[in-house]
Amino acid sequence: MGLWADYQSRIENGAIKPDGAQADVARKLDALASELEAYDPKPSGFFNRLIKPRNGSVPKGLYIQGEVGRGKTMLMDLFCATTQIEPKRRAHFHAFMQDIHARLHEARRGAKDPLRDVARAVAAEARLLCLDEMQIADIADAMIVGRLFEILLTRGSVVVTTSNLKPAGLYTDGLNRQLFLPFIHLMEEKLDVVTLDSPTDYRLGRVRGRDTFIHPLGSEADRKLQDLWEKLTDTEKGEPRSLEILGRQLHIPQAAHGAARFTFADLCEAPLGPPDYLAIAKAFGTVFIECIPVLTPQHRNPSKRFILLIDTLYDARVRLVASAARPPEGLYSKGHHAKEFARTISRLHEMQSASWWGAKIVET
Ligand SMILES: Nc1ncnc2c1ncn2[C@@H]1O[C@H](COP(=O)(O)OP(=O)(O)O)[C@@H](O)[C@H]1O
Ligand SMILES: [Mg+2]
Repeated sequence: MGLWADYQSRIENGAIKPDGAQADVARKLDALASELEAYDPKPSGFFNRLIKPRNGSVPKGLYIQGEVGRGKTMLMDLFCATTQIEPKRRAHFHAFMQDIHARLHEARRGAKDPLRDVARAVAAEARLLCLDEMQIADIADAMIVGRLFEILLTRGSVVVTTSNLKPAGLYTDGLNRQLFLPFIHLMEEKLDVVTLDSPTDYRLGRVRGRDTFIHPLGSEADRKLQDLWEKLTDTEKGEPRSLEILGRQLHIPQAAHGAARFTFADLCEAPLGPPDYLAIAKAFGTVFIECIPVLTPQHRNPSKRFILLIDTLYDARVRLVASAARPPEGLYSKGHHAKEFARTISRLHEMQSASWWGAKIVET
């Protein structure tokens, strides 16, 4: 069954909801699948490797951009599974780049142009390359993707990728960004950049009506928080990430699908400050904070940081999931910041309301 038929039958049997923006992207992917199958009708991997792509005849791949939870990965996976072309490869962008770096490391011994050798080998292994969640985390990736993808595309690999960001939004505050610009132009020129502009974040619908400020602490709270994490990210555990802030790296213990997960100690006992909290609020739509203790006068600095953190998340309209020893009004009783903490309490309450979590939530 082709992608379009498969997508339609899922709607008909109620597995997924009709969504016009998704249908637009699904149609494009379906058209690309037909082009690809016509371009390369032979399913045998061995012979395909011997066929040189004729210039101009390689179908244009797709760069699917959109907010989290819109169905980008679902559509890309459906496309990858239903398109009859061999060999094909589906990878998370981050894992793909790790593989490239590992192979470069191997190839460096003695090779004149290791990146060219690795890129050619990767192109030969994948006529279709589906890469989920493109993001450029560091300078090591930023400096090689331009040439890597240039070679992949000229060798006839068709690339379909998803990203939260448009090509021009990648690596925005990165070092030596001017050296990265050719990659942006390559993506814009050689791929069809489409926006999956659905109003619905389908993941959010799953946590509707759930408690997002969980107390007291304990195994029950851990279980509830883990359950929310899985519902919002579709993974048991996120990947560590780092954000570059004023030339240093801020470690994010777990990140996935626009959500980041920390403990209170990670965020408020470590010496973090306003630029860190701002960067977190900018980078993530949902933040998890585990194990917020009762704040006593001994927690002077952590209390100050917690107030600032909640203010920053609030101002950026970030969604918050937290586990705490007590409900917001019981967290801070006496000390220098009692007055300010009244604002934190009110904000923590507002951040639990359904309207905070999004008026456009649908049940799925
Ligand atoms: N039209 C839909 N109806 C119901 N659920 C959907 C629909 N589209 C996507 N989903 C579900 O929503 C979740 C998020 O989709 P996903 O493709 O991972 O989003 P993205 O990659 O854009 O973050 C997935 O579990 C997916 O199965
Ligand atoms: Mg995704």
